[in-house]
Amino acid sequence: MSYYALVPAAGSGSRMGASSGRALPKQYLPLAGKPLIWHALSALCATPAIAAVFVVLAPDDVAWPGEEMAALGERLHVLRCGGETRAESVTNGLRGMVSELGMIDDDWVLVHDAARPCLDVAMVERLIAEVGDDDAGGLLAVPVADTLKLCEEHGRVRQTVPRDGLWQAQTPQMFRHRLLLDALEFAPQVTDEASAMESLGLMPKLVAADIGNLKVTYPQDLKLAEWILRSRQAVPPATAHG
Ligand code: CTP
Ligand code: MG
Repeated sequence: MSYYALVPAAGSGSRMGASSGRALPKQYLPLAGKPLIWHALSALCATPAIAAVFVVLAPDDVAWPGEEMAALGERLHVLRCGGETRAESVTNGLRGMVSELGMIDDDWVLVHDAARPCLDVAMVERLIAEVGDDDAGGLLAVPVADTLKLCEEHGRVRQTVPRDGLWQAQTPQMFRHRLLLDALEFAPQVTDEASAMESLGLMPKLVAADIGNLKVTYPQDLKLAEWILRSRQAVPPATAHG
């Protein structure tokens, strides 16, 4: 049984302000001395259980820093088959993996957002260990901590929503290749892979993670991600000399 990672990275980062004239897509913004996407790819490439890491780029991507990424090693493969939506990018990536590897029906694919740079090897290994050989797969997630409000029009509270049993989904999300491709073909409108599996009646396992595995969505998220990465000491603190 093999494990592979698939990293969709064909978005533009519109909530980051990309539409307001910023040329560089979110995944290439500088973060702790590297392009944002480097951090997630580095953690996945450093996980011994993962046989290969596939990154899905937009076909017209001109910003992929190939030389810098080559240092991550031969397990990193680039697929230029990104789609209009995240689900389409993942679906195309799953098909692209078959073109490179042949049939991998029962092997595992860990789908991870390029925009979650604070992943570490321990989180990946916990997911793999806790999912085991459960065909429903699983995902990293955190129980909702805050009180939830349902918003009425005009930004006022309509009601408080019980948070019991509610979790925030993160990535990686881990499923068998064939089942995930079937699920995404059945439910192409989903925003994460677990939703696609749910639409087939499967119940993926929630594996407790921590909020440090945040997704960089808005400009202020970059500062938090930078702080988390530097506080792990893998990246030395910035000095007066830069
Ligand atoms: N993604 C993708 N293909 C798309 C859209 C998104 O591969 N058509 C990827 C992004 O590059 C990112 C991940 O899916 O790594 C999570 O998406 P998100 O954080 O929403 O990134 P963007 O879609 O780029 O940002 P936004 O929604 O703000 O435009
Ligand atoms: Mg998006």
